[in-house]
Amino acid sequence: MPIQRLHPDTIEEVKQRADIYDVVSDYVVLRKRGKDFVGLCPFHSEKTPSFTVNQAKQMYYCFGCQAAGNAIKFLMELEKTSFAEVVLDLARRYQVPVKTLEFEQTQELQRQLSLREQLYEVLALTGKFYQHALKQPQGEKALNYLLRERQLSESTIQDFALGYAPAGWETLYRYLVDNKQYPVKLVEQGGLIKPRKEGGGYYDVFRDRLMIPIHDVMGRIIAFGARTLGDDQPKYLNSPETELFNKGKTLFALDKAKTGISQKDQVVVVEGYFDAIALHAAGINNAVASLGTAFSLEQARLVLRYTDSKQIIFNFDADAAGVNATEKAIGEIADLAYKGEVQLKILNIPDGKDADEYLHTYTPQDYCQLLENTPLWLDWQIRQIIKDKDLKQATDFQQVSHKLVKLLTNIANSDTRNYYISHCAEILSLGDSRLIPLRVENLLTQISPTTNYSKPAPSSTNISQSINSNKKRPLSEGTLLEAAEGLLLQIYLHCSEYRELIFDNLEERNLQFSLSHHRFLWQQVLEVPENLGHDLLSTVQNRCLEFPEYMGSISHLFYLSEKGQKDMLRVPQVIQAAIASMERVITEKRYRHFLELWQQTDAKMEPQQAAYYYKAFYAEKQKLQLLEKQRQFTISDLL
Ligand code: CTP
Ligand code: MN
Repeated sequence: MPIQRLHPDTIEEVKQRADIYDVVSDYVVLRKRGKDFVGLCPFHSEKTPSFTVNQAKQMYYCFGCQAAGNAIKFLMELEKTSFAEVVLDLARRYQVPVKTLEFEQTQELQRQLSLREQLYEVLALTGKFYQHALKQPQGEKALNYLLRERQLSESTIQDFALGYAPAGWETLYRYLVDNKQYPVKLVEQGGLIKPRKEGGGYYDVFRDRLMIPIHDVMGRIIAFGARTLGDDQPKYLNSPETELFNKGKTLFALDKAKTGISQKDQVVVVEGYFDAIALHAAGINNAVASLGTAFSLEQARLVLRYTDSKQIIFNFDADAAGVNATEKAIGEIADLAYKGEVQLKILNIPDGKDADEYLHTYTPQDYCQLLENTPLWLDWQIRQIIKDKDLKQATDFQQVSHKLVKLLTNIANSDTRNYYISHCAEILSLGDSRLIPLRVENLLTQISPTTNYSKPAPSSTNISQSINSNKKRPLSEGTLLEAAEGLLLQIYLHCSEYRELIFDNLEERNLQFSLSHHRFLWQQVLEVPENLGHDLLSTVQNRCLEFPEYMGSISHLFYLSEKGQKDMLRVPQVIQAAIASMERVITEKRYRHFLELWQQTDAKMEPQQAAYYYKAFYAEKQKLQLLEKQRQFTISDLL
């Protein structure tokens, strides 16, 4: 397709979506070092890594050759392509719809740009106008409200540029249009005035309210929140959506919080303007407010840029509405949370207080203490699931365990999942610890019903034996996978020099053992303290002896038969084949997923989307074939 001018929205969205780590790690092996990632610089040759990637800043920098830039620059330099090509490629990769511009549109855009500039100006002036009014006699009531009821200091009022909208119907209108000569339409587009329904003319949107300016990340006013000083409804009136203001993509106080978020490597999300203001006033400078809407994925993306370890703490009200908002917000970012891409925690302040109310009675240190003790979201969810349930009642038990299984199934990281499986097993055991292994087993079976193969005969799981039987009848996928996994564990236990390789392979590819007894054994391996690593085999074996229900299916892995010892001579190939077998499982899932998406996409209506899915499933298919070869090659080699 001829490269037309890309729409700035597309460029902006690509910049937002494309993560520097993602992009660079396609070309450079990156290792975590402190806050950064480091690797060998792709732009000059070197033996020790001086190429760093900083996710918070979304930048790379090479101390050796001074190459530096963002994700787009990286690809432009490396692939020697144009800006537009790179943006298009990334758009495809991150599924950003591509919008382009015709000549007329380009001109229209210029107009819009200057419109935006003018809107910023009008809103800034309006902010000053409200601030001024707060200090006049007419603003006394509002100022007193801030000082007395909200207990805010002069400096906080100043920092947040709080103001007062006078009570008249046309005060701001007269100031901006008559006095300052701004075009009526412009002021209307800023969301500040509205046309009268009858008789022509305009009236002010905000009257006799406390004015809270909403700034963008760069600190420019883009909208206002306005609180009543009495009992008028609504309690809060917000600017309408405008050219500058998109509620779902804005977070209140982010401009003030971004430094604090970076420093504390964590963001606190509250519901209300005054919760955020009170937190900042108390020195808790990493707080933002979600503007009364449910916290959105886009808002999450916005803040996650500033925290390396991706820690978000939701501090919503503990009442029903707050729990609801929390559930919704979790739903928005559940995908990221399950994958471990955000570390989500949920704080409900005792007695159903919001942060602002809490700080009226307690100290900032108390609040920080609450933050520190805040449970991870999974713990919070588990608590919600068992809240008000009587697990001694069969129906409640059923319901709870069904919900827990659903929750556990979605956890991508096997360590995390295993941890929560045993946690849930404990809950379901109702204090009888003898029941725990059984509950674990039950949960495991329900979590991955597809891998619930029948129990193998005690001695048939050595891969060489499985292969021998191959001559008589074709091996089922399940048997092959079981053999591969077993062999991998066997190598891990018996050949210490290959442990790192196996561990790294599993980690890097995010692979999990698909059989529950293998997962159990792997868990035991991971739990061996470092100082016992030299004696891993017997330590693990001793641990496993305490779980007779698993021993039946894993005990053979602790011994090497003669044939097995011979296989150990070809360990690298065997590892490759085993990893390929395991990776095949995920690849096949992905293949089917994209194939399905492709089949569901109308290529005429959404050609780019369809092309993207096609490419994706085709790539998985090719990978499948490659994995198949890697597996077959070694297996025939072993015969
Ligand atoms: N909100 C809103 N519009 C409303 C009500 C609420 O935009 N009609 C948003 C505001 O950002 C507000 C937040 O939702 O700060 C939380 O509202 P709520 O819990 O009702 O009030 P509080 O923040 O506790 O308000 P206050 O402390 O000012 O009484
Ligand atoms: Mn409140």
